[in-house]
Amino acid sequence: MTRQSLLSALLCLASVSALAQGPAIFVGADLKLGAQLIAENQCVACHQRKVGGDGSAIYQSSGRIDTPGALRGMIEQCNMELNLALFPEEVTAISAVLNRDHYRFK
Ligand code: HEC
Repeated sequence: MTRQSLLSALLCLASVSALAQGPAIFVGADLKLGAQLIAENQCVACHQRKVGGDGSAIYQSSGRIDTPGALRGMIEQCNMELNLALFPEEVTAISAVLNRDHYRFK
């Protein structure tokens, strides 16, 4: 690989990851950790009991979450109500995954 093509490959990778990061408050969020926490905390299982299907119908069902900040605030609220004891960066990671997969705020 030439220097030039290596450089453009790197630039390309950089712009792809910038796109994937979405809203500023989710930049640098650990998406792998977020997905793992969603699995570990029964989020989906409980939502399925409520709305059926794969549980994802719960997200944005009422439309009250309309910004990235509101999404993160909702997760923070669940964190306290369900006594999940998540760290702030874990709340951010979960929010970033839900945004990537469901809410898609830019
Ligand atoms: C014990 C059951 C239960 C668990 C566990 C649970 N949820 Fe929920 N969640 C609900 C219910 C019920 C609602 C709908 C509340 C309503 O409509 O007022 C909800 C709503 C939400 C919403 C708002 C959807 C919207 O757009 O209005 C988000 C986001 C959410 N949950 C995320 C999570 C995450 C993340 C976890 C795991 C860390 C989690 N929930 C765990 C029961 C649960």
